[in-house]
This record gives sequence, C-alpha cells and structure tokens, in this order.
Amino acid sequence: MSIRVAVNGYGVIGKRVADAVRAMPDMELVGVADVATDWRIRTATGLGIAVYAATDSAGDTMREAGVPVAGTLTDLLGQTDVVVDTTPKKVAAANLPLYEAAGVKVVLQGGESHATTGHSFVAQANYASAVGRDMTRVVSCNTTSIVRVLGALQDGGLLARARGVLIRRATDPGESHRGGIMNTVAPEASIPSHQGPDAKTVLPGLDVVTIAAKASHTQTHNHFWTLQLTRPASREEVLGALRAAPRIAFIRMADGLTALNTTVELMRDLGRPRGDMWEVALWEDVLSVEGDEAYLTYQVYNEAIVVPETIDAIRALSGTVTDGATSIAMTDEVLGMRQEFLPVPLGARER
Ligand SMILES: NC(=O)c1ccc[n+]([C@@H]2O[C@H](COP(=O)([O-])OP(=O)(O)OC[C@H]3O[C@@H](n4cnc5c(N)ncnc54)[C@H](O)[C@@H]3O)[C@@H](O)[C@H]2O)c1
Repeated sequence: MSIRVAVNGYGVIGKRVADAVRAMPDMELVGVADVATDWRIRTATGLGIAVYAATDSAGDTMREAGVPVAGTLTDLLGQTDVVVDTTPKKVAAANLPLYEAAGVKVVLQGGESHATTGHSFVAQANYASAVGRDMTRVVSCNTTSIVRVLGALQDGGLLARARGVLIRRATDPGESHRGGIMNTVAPEASIPSHQGPDAKTVLPGLDVVTIAAKASHTQTHNHFWTLQLTRPASREEVLGALRAAPRIAFIRMADGLTALNTTVELMRDLGRPRGDMWEVALWEDVLSVEGDEAYLTYQVYNEAIVVPETIDAIRALSGTVTDGATSIAMTDEVLGMRQEFLPVPLGARER
C-alpha cells in the first residue's frame, strides 16, 4: 500500500517535494495546501494536483481568485499518513497541534528548530533513529551538505576536526525581484554561524566550526573547508571515503566546471527538473591533502538538496522501509541521482 503524503506550503521546497512524491512508486500525493492565490498555486492545479486551503481565510480568497479548492487542511490531513510542512520559517511549528489532532506523522524543514521535533534528519547519517517516530526535521540545505561530506569522512575514520567558510546565495531566484543584496558580500555577525552547531543535531560527535557570509548571487551555496584528519592520509584515501557516501557527486575544473553557474547550466543541460541538483557537487581536482590536513570546496544546490532527504524521512517515519541504505537507493534511482554527471569525465585522470 502506498504511503499517503500531503505537502503544506507549495513554495520552493514544497513544489519539489510534491513532484518527488509523485515520482515514487511507494507514495501517493493526496494533495497540497497553501494560502497563495496566484500563479504559484494555480500551477499545481494545472498539474492535476488537488489544492487545499491551509487556513479558513485563505479558502475564501483562493476561491475568489478562481483557485479550485478541494477542501480544508483538516480535510487533507484526514486522508494522509505523513504531512511534509514546507511553509515559511516558524509557521510550521504552529501547525503541530493540528497535525497531532489529525494523527498524522510530520516532516518539518530546516527553518524550524531541532527542539520542535526532538529529532533532526539526514538519511545517510541517522535514518534508523527516525524509523517509526511521529516527527522529524530535515535539516537545512547547508547543514545537509555538511553532514553528507563530514559524515562520510567520519565514517571513513578520517575526520578529527573541521573548520568551514560558507558563501551563501542572497535569495532564491523566484524571490529576487523582492530583495537580496547586490555587488557586495555580507559576513554574518557572529561566529560560529548556526550551520556548524546545527550539524551536531544529527552528528553530535562532530568537532566543527562554520563562518558564513551572504553574497550577491541567487543560485547555490559554496563551502570551503580545512579539515584536520585523524592521521596522515593520501588524497585517494580521502576521496575514497567521500566516494563511499551516496549523495556526493564529483565535478572537475578540468571539465570546464569552474564556477557555480557552470554546474547550474550543466544541470539544465542534463534535463533535470527545474535544473535541480540533489547531490553535493565536490570539486575533485581541487581537493588537496597535506599530511594530516585536507582542503576542499563544494557546491550546494539549496533549492533541491533536501528533497531526497525528505522522501527518505517520509519512509522512515511511516516505517515501510527500515533500512536507510535501501530507502536511499530507491529514492536516488527514481530521481536519477549520480556520482558522475559526465559520461567520460575529462578531468578524471590524476593531477
Ligand atoms: N529555499 C531554500 O533554499 C531552502 C532550502 C532548505 C530548506 N528550506 C526550508 O524549507 C522551508 C520552506 O522554505 P521555502 O524556501 O520553500 O519557502 P517559500 O517561501 O518558497 O514557500 C513557502 C510556501 O508556503 C506558503 N505559505 C505561507 N504561509 C502559509 C500557511 N500559513 N499555510 C500554508 N502555506 C503557507 C507560501 O505561499 C509558499 O507557497 C523553510 O523551513 C526553509 O527554511 C528552504
């Protein structure tokens, strides 16, 4: 029997989660809820997705705007096993009593705090501890990438300490007419930035510090890391530990992938939905190892990276798949995730 899923908040993350749910053979998208009345939610109707009103007042304005409303959020929850709440930061936490009353399981996103659910999720790191729970929080885009990459090195017994700098995008492309910064870089006002501590909600043993800044572009984040290893290691050993993780892809300067926009363009050329990249893209030919220190940089496609994690979180909570690696493999195959984006990477030869 399919897992019946609802998505509340059909925005940047919600619309992608809705599409991914529809693609999974073991899931059914019952419908989406929102408060919007414009093209964003009317697109869902055009795609044949049932649209529900997330609040009473939204129901009236949506109907007045000509959005065919299938019912209330409570109606939607009544047909649902798991709700994914992708409403803006802080809205989701206030919805919890409603979800509890409906007896549905809940996946929240990174805008909410760890304390709200008591469990934070990245599939490769802690799928097992989410199995059968009532709720979890898929951590933010940056935190997901940190857990994937540092977690892989920790699993390989190589990571002692990590210090990272995060250059974040200013705003999402669909919001760039409303705000964002131009021609500058704005460092965050305190160190550590929240992403390092947030990664510890999934991997408590990490020794990690992050410093972050916002830059004036709209697509994807860029991380730079200095890593203290547990022992002197070779470049191949470090790469081997990273290759053993499921959701890291390897890109190369030698292939002409020399900046964030080039990878974004590659994703479009690969025919990915919305040009999305669900993998962390790590520059293989930039990675350096000197004795017991390693240095690396990677790209995080913030609008998409949490989508496969959310799909796995749905399976973990519903308990239909108890093994994380099995769920990850199912999700990744359906989405078409990969470790290499080019058929014969020119830069695959040793430096
Ligand atoms: N945008 C990113 O890059 C990104 C990445 C990872 C995680 N997240 C997290 O995902 C969550 C959603 O972020 P987003 O960027 O998709 O937001 P968004 O603003 O793009 O989308 C939110 C959607 O919720 C709707 N909405 C607003 N109030 C609502 C309500 N009361 N009930 C139902 N729907 C309501 C909005 O109309 C909109 O469609 C946040 O927790 C955010 O921190 C965002």
